[in-house]
Amino acid sequence: MVTYLEADAAPLRNTGQIRLYDEAGFEGMRKACNLTARCLDELASMVEPGLTTNAIDRFVFEFGMDHGAVPATLNYRGYTKSTCTSINHVVCHGIPDDKPLREGDIVNIDVTYIVDGWHGDSSRMYPVGTIKRAAERLLEVTHDCLMLGIEAVKPGARTGAIGAAIQAYAEGERCSVVRDFCGHGVGLLFHDAPNILHYGSVNEGVEMRPGMIFTIEPMINLGKPHVKVLSDGWTAVTRDRSLSAQYEHTVGVTETGCEIFTLSLAGLDRPGLPPKI
Ligand code: MF3
Ligand code: CO
Ligand code: CO
Repeated sequence: MVTYLEADAAPLRNTGQIRLYDEAGFEGMRKACNLTARCLDELASMVEPGLTTNAIDRFVFEFGMDHGAVPATLNYRGYTKSTCTSINHVVCHGIPDDKPLREGDIVNIDVTYIVDGWHGDSSRMYPVGTIKRAAERLLEVTHDCLMLGIEAVKPGARTGAIGAAIQAYAEGERCSVVRDFCGHGVGLLFHDAPNILHYGSVNEGVEMRPGMIFTIEPMINLGKPHVKVLSDGWTAVTRDRSLSAQYEHTVGVTETGCEIFTLSLAGLDRPGLPPKI
């Protein structure tokens, strides 16, 4: 049985109970998430051929320090970087290194800042120079998946409605949904209950209630959904080496739907893609 409780009444670890945050919590999340979005905005004009993912990592660390934020991934379960950078067939949790980005790459940059204890978790895809039409289509499909998932967030519906919307659209576009990673409750904790699956059906999952805060972060492949984790223990890649993409927002459930905390105020939610009409 799932239980829901006021966020500040719960111990500060993932107990499987679902925290319901109040207006002060939403305000804390707006601040943390907006800083994450501003960092991702800044990166839009920096990403180009020749830039290393370590340079991206350094920027994420320093932008955080300059604004009173700590990257949540630093020393998280043995991870030692400030961001994840996942290129081409890397699905997620790519580790920044000294290899330069190349013309035609697509790279996901995933940032989580902690501001006053609140975690703002978001990621976007960045085209490096000019990319192939198939890659651009994957980015568009994946961003549409994220936004369709967000549209399914309403009190009274189950979290399965999010996955159902994403899976139906992705598979209709002849893409596949990665099953091995999911969205998650977030707020005072980085990874909390409930899990948010990006596939499934409307009658699965837990009922959404006002005050819940979680991420939606679909990973969509051009080929098969299967992934493997490399020997570094982090880097997840598609088994068939097909291209993979991911966008992530942090959202809070309201009385009528949801609030997207990590929206770009600069209109850069889909950097490098033509504006949606
Ligand atoms: N930010 C990722 C997420 O969306 C988690 C990264 S954990 C790390 O949940 F350790 F790989 F950095
Ligand atoms: Co996340
Ligand atoms: Co993330």
